[in-house]
Amino acid sequence: MLKGFVFDLDGVITDTAQYHYEAWKRVAEEETGIVIDESVNEQLKGLSRMDSLNTILKFGHKEEAYTDTEKAVMASEKNDYYLKLIQNMTPADILPGMKEFLEAVKAAGYQTAIASASKNAPAIIERLGLIRDFDGIVDPTLLRHGKPDPEIFERAAALINLDNSEVVGMEDAAAGIAGINAAGQFSVGIGDPRILEDADLIFRSTNEVDLGAIEAVFNTKDN
Ligand code: BG6
Ligand code: MG
Repeated sequence: MLKGFVFDLDGVITDTAQYHYEAWKRVAEEETGIVIDESVNEQLKGLSRMDSLNTILKFGHKEEAYTDTEKAVMASEKNDYYLKLIQNMTPADILPGMKEFLEAVKAAGYQTAIASASKNAPAIIERLGLIRDFDGIVDPTLLRHGKPDPEIFERAAALINLDNSEVVGMEDAAAGIAGINAAGQFSVGIGDPRILEDADLIFRSTNEVDLGAIEAVFNTKDN
């Protein structure tokens, strides 16, 4: 029986993906000379800060070129740029339809948790005015493995005292859908169906996300 929802943050509740991209693009070019484009950015979605940097360095064939200390400096520099880009976020930055969807989810009595790899997630949720809409936020610093590993989604379900089979996971990234599926949760993808093809149900945009449709397909799969 469906009892709760686990949400990715970036790309599902708000569109910070563009800010992550701008910050990485700047650091990559300034510090390594590697030029990334949107297709590289697609691979970064959902990955932790350091996994993102390693993916960029691999793309530029420079994965062995920097020490851990140098990489830590680049990651911190990226976060400084990112923090500047997100500092003016307000509730107006909630993706279209998601405030209404969250209200419908809470009104129906479901539990909610955030499964974001971002260490900045609590600050962003606060700025969006959504801190009361979530019953739990996974602390990504406790994770042993990043997405596509299921760990973050399993921890999110545990935070709201639910079994994985009772949870819907919502994601905009292929790595996230893989993690939700591996956790044994019902996966809802938001975005391009070609990228999210492994999801149990896909909506092309947050505008289209519909609680009734999710419940209907969840119950079909359940029985
Ligand atoms: C994820 C984003 O939510 O958080 C990734 O999709 C990002 O792009 C990751 O790298 C880590 O975020 P932060 O804020 O801890 O650097
Ligand atoms: Mg995301």
